[in-house]
Amino acid sequence: MSKKIIKNKNIILCVTGSIAAYKSIYLSSLLVKEGANVQVMLSESAKNFVGESSFSGITHNEVITGYYDSKTSLSIDHIEIAKKADVIVVAPATANILAKIALGISSDPIVGSILATKAPILIAPAMDGDMYSSKQIQGHINEINNLGYKISGPEKGRLASGIEEFGRMTEPESLLDEIINIFQKKKDYNQVEAIVTAGGTIEDIDPVRYISNKSSGKMGIALAKALRDRGAVVNLVYGRVDSLEETYGINKIPTKSAVEMKNEIEKLIDRSQIIIMSAAVADYRVKKISKEKIKKDNLDSIQLEKNPDILKSLDSSKIIKVGFAAESENLLINAKKKLSSKDCKIIVANDITLEGSGFGSDNNKAVLVDNDGEETFPLMSKNELAHKILDRAKKFIN
Ligand SMILES: Cc1cc2nc3c(=O)[nH]c(=O)nc-3n(C[C@H](O)[C@H](O)[C@H](O)COP(=O)(O)O)c2cc1C
Repeated sequence: MSKKIIKNKNIILCVTGSIAAYKSIYLSSLLVKEGANVQVMLSESAKNFVGESSFSGITHNEVITGYYDSKTSLSIDHIEIAKKADVIVVAPATANILAKIALGISSDPIVGSILATKAPILIAPAMDGDMYSSKQIQGHINEINNLGYKISGPEKGRLASGIEEFGRMTEPESLLDEIINIFQKKKDYNQVEAIVTAGGTIEDIDPVRYISNKSSGKMGIALAKALRDRGAVVNLVYGRVDSLEETYGINKIPTKSAVEMKNEIEKLIDRSQIIIMSAAVADYRVKKISKEKIKKDNLDSIQLEKNPDILKSLDSSKIIKVGFAAESENLLINAKKKLSSKDCKIIVANDITLEGSGFGSDNNKAVLVDNDGEETFPLMSKNELAHKILDRAKKFIN
């Protein structure tokens, strides 16, 4: 893959006051090597961690450090630069700048530029793990997601405090890939509206107990993100999932039980062209949900009744159906059976007994089965697999 895709692109790199600021010197160098025109903005605090000369030496551009110290020949630095920007990257992003971005507090040129631009924004937070998971920061992250800005990381790893937890800035090489990605998105799902289901359904037993499964929702969320990035309007109908990180720009519809999930899907079906059912839907639900907590002595048996088969129930003349088959034996035979019994265009079959693949993992090893044959993939990230599924499904979309 040629990375020269960012050649001559105007990239604003905003660096704020975190120990991780040193990584952004390397990031600026990676971007310059790819031919980008990099304009660095340093927050007041960032100057305590890294020096202007490092950045100006690498980027051959003056560094902007405040509203009132005009460095360029432009009339108002931050506005002019924001208008010309092809992307604005904030890396590292402190707790402070996240709050300011979320609220639009433009007391420095970093937020001023973000408010004044139409370019995509990529933000890479870095901070102590407890700071990051605090209600305040999570609230700001939500807001930033809703604004349509992309948040990268943070990753789990050793922090400056010596503790191993989430809060580490995404490594410069990965950020470079994400920046390149912003420019090379295939838009082959433009004008497609899609439904993706994710996670495990929840079937209540009583007010405190329920039946669910081990699905993390990661595969469905990867599919929803891939569809969004390829131009689709995406409706993510989800049950219990581990995280909804980075799902900006996706219409999110929370559900609990299989019946609720079915109802929400039915509301969307007429306007959608494709449904990818990656949710692990419970086959059975509790026949009579108790309003009171059932005493433990009365819990030795629970009567179940069959849930609707959502995938099968959808009319395949109206929508392209892609199903999943999580199998522990006879993978291909079962996948082919499912393809015809549920009238799907594609079945994504995965062997859940394989180590490092399937439920809860970030990776998956799958075979895609359709009426033209089958395609076997090696173990790969769920994000990569999501794109392979979309590549194969594309032929059914007219
Ligand atoms: C040694 C040191 C390391 C710091 N690292 C971080 C950090 O990783 N993340 C963060 O949010 N704040 C960190 N801070 C606090 C910020 O520098 C401080 O909140 C500052 O006001 C941020 O301003 P800015 O967002 O305008 O750069 C650190 C402070 C010090 C003294």
